[in-house]
Amino acid sequence: MQKLIIEGGSPLRGEISISGAKNAALPVLCAALLTKETLTVKNVPALHDITTMLSLLQQMGTTIASPYSSEVSLSAATLTHLVAPYEMVKTMRAAILVLGPLLARAGEANISLPGGCAIGLRPVDQHIKGLQAMGAEIQIKHGYIHAVASRLHGARIIFDIVTVTGTENLMMAATLATGTTILENAAREPEIMDLANCLNAMGANIQGAGTDIITIEGVPSLHGAEHTVMPDRIETGTFLVAATATKGDIYLRETDVHLLDAVLDKLTEAGAAIDSGKDWIHLSMQKKPKSVNIRTAPYPAFPTDMQAQFMSLNCIADGTAIITETIFENRLMHVQELKRMNANIEVEGNAAIISGIPQLDGAHVMATDLRASASLVIAGLVAQGETIIDRIYHLDRGYENIEGKLTALGAQIKRAQ
Ligand code: UD1
Repeated sequence: MQKLIIEGGSPLRGEISISGAKNAALPVLCAALLTKETLTVKNVPALHDITTMLSLLQQMGTTIASPYSSEVSLSAATLTHLVAPYEMVKTMRAAILVLGPLLARAGEANISLPGGCAIGLRPVDQHIKGLQAMGAEIQIKHGYIHAVASRLHGARIIFDIVTVTGTENLMMAATLATGTTILENAAREPEIMDLANCLNAMGANIQGAGTDIITIEGVPSLHGAEHTVMPDRIETGTFLVAATATKGDIYLRETDVHLLDAVLDKLTEAGAAIDSGKDWIHLSMQKKPKSVNIRTAPYPAFPTDMQAQFMSLNCIADGTAIITETIFENRLMHVQELKRMNANIEVEGNAAIISGIPQLDGAHVMATDLRASASLVIAGLVAQGETIIDRIYHLDRGYENIEGKLTALGAQIKRAQ
């Protein structure tokens, strides 16, 4: 199993480009199932989750041109296999995103209940409830969701809980339903707007994406289109935290400052100087960071996907901070690993109390989920001595060429078997 070996102590300095957003690319690729024509997607990041999704779409009958490049063309002229098998979806919860499009286009779908990061129970009841309201008959048997509907119809759906992929799934399904669908208490994440832009370019009629009420007028069919995936706000934030923690000075290109307001506020509070232009962000950190309290919540509040990275920053900051995780019930697994690096953290329920110490110690640690892995990389970059991170396949699910980008910024990091 591959590992990362990091020699801590080098401040990050230099310039890198940010990749396309994993969480925007995944639903956009699934949108190809909604049309017989070709959907061309640009700025697709090279990640394991993307490869898994492309394999899944391929085995359903989608023809994919240049699946290993950043520009992917998908043609789902005929769908031959309306199944997402357990073996393919167990590592990636986002596979649930094929449910809505398959059902809307082909009238049937058999989807294994998803796996993914072990950060909580993560049920899919809201996806199912919404599709049932649109006329689908759904049964769960032998670990699979079996859904049928001759033609979905519009409905008013009020989510009990804000769900990102739930909103995306129902938005995609509603594009081909008869009549109007109104999604209330919808997620407002920028990735939802990106998907809506792609679907509208394909001929859908969606209004309100980015707000908590989304209205979709169903159309008889969608057509081919070209779409460029938005920049990855979580990758952007991760590098900014790493630069803050190491007292670095970095320029991030091909990103978008407007996607990160809550994160930038916290970095500024920690003491970083930040300036930005249309598609770049410059961060410089001259002093020891101050600890910052964090409470995760749906967009536009502070993202759960940045919580672990700020935990590492707080470990070496001045003062004591509380990080409260409100989205997932088991998302503090990195605490145990950070403690192996001498961090001073106490967990109480869904909150972690972090007392900053002058220096973390390099240690042998294990990545437990995608963003927890990123927190260990940041901890390794600031620690004294060598840190070895095991199980980095989690990292490869969500960060394109992370060691290449960190090396370009002066980090001492290498991958080993
Ligand atoms: C997406 C992101 C993930 C991010 C998360 C929260 C993708 C591919 N992944 O995950 O990186 O951490 O949003 O910002 O975009 N829930 C239910 N019932 C449902 C659906 C969700 O109870 O039917 C609960 C979940 O257990 C969780 C909360 O709602 O506690 C939010 O989950 P959700 O927004 O659905 O997360 P994902 O879409 O899986």
